[in-house]
Amino acid sequence: MAKKKSVLTLQEMKNNGEKITMVTSYDYAMASLAEQAGVDTILVGDSLQMVVLGDDSTISATLDTMIHHIKAVVKGAPNTFVIGDMPFGSYHISPEEAVASAVRMMKEGRCDAVKMEGGVNMEDTIRAIVDAGIPVCAHIGLTPQTTAMLGGHRVQGRGDAAQKVLDDALAVQRAGAFMVVFECVPGVLAEHISKLMNIPVIGIGAGAGTDGQVLVFHDILGLSGDFKAKFVKKFRDLGAEAVAGIGDYVKEVKEGTFPAEENTFGGVSEEDLENLKEPVDIRGGLKSIKDGLKNLVPGAGKDGKVDDGADK
Ligand code: KIV
Repeated sequence: MAKKKSVLTLQEMKNNGEKITMVTSYDYAMASLAEQAGVDTILVGDSLQMVVLGDDSTISATLDTMIHHIKAVVKGAPNTFVIGDMPFGSYHISPEEAVASAVRMMKEGRCDAVKMEGGVNMEDTIRAIVDAGIPVCAHIGLTPQTTAMLGGHRVQGRGDAAQKVLDDALAVQRAGAFMVVFECVPGVLAEHISKLMNIPVIGIGAGAGTDGQVLVFHDILGLSGDFKAKFVKKFRDLGAEAVAGIGDYVKEVKEGTFPAEENTFGGVSEEDLENLKEPVDIRGGLKSIKDGLKNLVPGAGKDGKVDDGADK
């Protein structure tokens, strides 16, 4: 098992030109699989609100929800650097509120760092969280929490807009972020800026020229239904496997072949069954229940109904 990464070793990886891998995870089992596969970092992304909780955006994720899932991930991947995503509204009102939210994620979730969306507009906020001793991974380019402002899920930084991506990247680095995610940025621009930056740049839809890559767990493994963004590669089709497996289970239960002998506990003989004392005549169950009711409830009639005298 490789040693758990830190902000220092992640920086060394950038300095040495070694690619950094990141995958999202949202619970104990997924995190454990990601750790066994040898990822460098796990992101508990607010994408969980979509891929796990079924919403059509990340907007409604709450701090409590994020902390709930971060706790499980940290337990499932104790030797992996875990980054917790700050949900929309938990860092937008003031830097003080942002520090309070980040502190909760670290103290209650026990993650190793937090991630937040925004560039120049979040410079002071990132600085405040870093000053509180919490490592921050920034996230620029396409920022899913503010797609309403961006006019939808669109590639960022084409043409004149390239300057904004550079300005945002330099702002988060200046503010003390230890890492930054570039989402949906043209590959040539992402590579150019990654080379200018001191801190590691992790890309998603940003080409091969960044210092590392992040993808959503469900997308890599074919668990996202028909969703297929240009930048996603399905490395396995576990979705199809899962449907086939559950289908086999349903079939075997229906036809009575599951559970089989080997799935069933033994230890009771025919003789044990014959010796069972059965206080209630189970075959005449209804009769016994009526008789029992008559004894328990004075006034219960022959048919088991309670006579409360209401019609007299
Ligand atoms: O929430 C998330 O999963 C993310 C990654 C896609 C970068 O922010």
